[in-house]
Amino acid sequence: MRVYDIILKKREGYSLTKDEIYYFVNEYTKGNIPDYQAAALLMAIFFQKMNKEETAYLTEAMMYSGDVLDLSKIEGIKVDKHSTGGVGDTTTLVVAPLVASCNVPVAKMSGRGLGHTGGTIDKLESIQGFHVELSNEQFINNVNQFKIAVIGQSANLAPADKKLYALRDVTATVDNLSLIASSIMSKKLAAGSNAIVLDVKVGSGAFMKDLDSGIELAKEMVDIGHHMHRETIAILTSMEQPLGFAIGNSLEVEEAIQTLKNRGPEDLKELSITLASYMVFLAKEAPSIAEARTMVINHLESGKALSKFKEFVQAQGGDPAVVEDTNLLPKAAYTREVIALEDGYIQSIQTDNIGIAALILGAGRENKNSPIDLSAGIVMNKKIGDTVHKGDSIATLYTNKAEVLEQAGSIIRKAIHLSEGPVQKPRLIKAIVS
Ligand code: URA
Ligand code: CA
Repeated sequence: MRVYDIILKKREGYSLTKDEIYYFVNEYTKGNIPDYQAAALLMAIFFQKMNKEETAYLTEAMMYSGDVLDLSKIEGIKVDKHSTGGVGDTTTLVVAPLVASCNVPVAKMSGRGLGHTGGTIDKLESIQGFHVELSNEQFINNVNQFKIAVIGQSANLAPADKKLYALRDVTATVDNLSLIASSIMSKKLAAGSNAIVLDVKVGSGAFMKDLDSGIELAKEMVDIGHHMHRETIAILTSMEQPLGFAIGNSLEVEEAIQTLKNRGPEDLKELSITLASYMVFLAKEAPSIAEARTMVINHLESGKALSKFKEFVQAQGGDPAVVEDTNLLPKAAYTREVIALEDGYIQSIQTDNIGIAALILGAGRENKNSPIDLSAGIVMNKKIGDTVHKGDSIATLYTNKAEVLEQAGSIIRKAIHLSEGPVQKPRLIKAIVS
């Protein structure tokens, strides 16, 4: 087999066979195919697209390019949740203990944040002592004992995707549905769960800016899941504004704790309940979504989910006192209010720019090796539809770098658009694909 022929075939719009796709993925991962040929093939795929079968084979090939976790020693049906990425998306911190408290095993492999979207591991590490360096055996034991554990993404998880994603990033071939869907699903499938709930974000802070393209991506991923015999459901949700109020690592941990105390922002609470209900249902801990929802709400209101969070933090070396006293989280040296200059209603928010402002304040990483300031970030004081009076605080900034306050404040002011008349709040849950 020659890569040249594979590139030519795709360039001319023909479908590739399973063997051709596996050959390309395996040889590229081993370093036997140079980047320029891989880049040419990616560009051909970008223009000519892949059909469902090709997309499924590409996913499989990338999934099997490295370690595939064996979770069979964990009792019960393992359900994973994945968000396609957003700004201030605090849900994993709420959903994981919530479903674990419903007896669903949560064996979660998470990543760190890159760019303006946050990673669950960075967030959890803002709790003093918390660590994710568990051996596979410890990981499995913790899930069996506490129903919940989180580890860092292993270096050898879907290495083909790692290499191809980096190449796509610099060759303008990221935003192709088959390539995005196979990239996300190869990692999810390698992480070993039996069923998957996908939170596909739609809006100004997400990959997919509108509902139609979000649904297309969701369908691709759900089809891949089914092809691999995993129950998969996608929920399309609003990323037209940051989720909840907090953006930034320790700020989001505090927000998650408030939510687990049933005192959190409405949108974060509702999304967490919805995602958790589908997970509990797929894990067969409830006979219907409605009954799963009742169970989840009970566990939130009774404090069971909060106790589970505490137990989980302690099991991974963290200080559980943080649950009672969130002042134990890292605190930024400087804060500043972003003040409204006129009256009106919040009409829209350019959410990716809010993420960039958080990054400038220190909450994110510019590249893989950049340091991160766990205390930095933003708390939104206004959301879409809210009334604003001149002089109101729209957002509060947190940082240890006083010199970036001005720039971050100005980005936020430009990202928020006011209207003179009342504005409807966006729908949080937009569609379900299963
Ligand atoms: N996230 C991924 O992991 N891969 C993509 O291609 C896009 C988003
Ligand atoms: Ca948030």
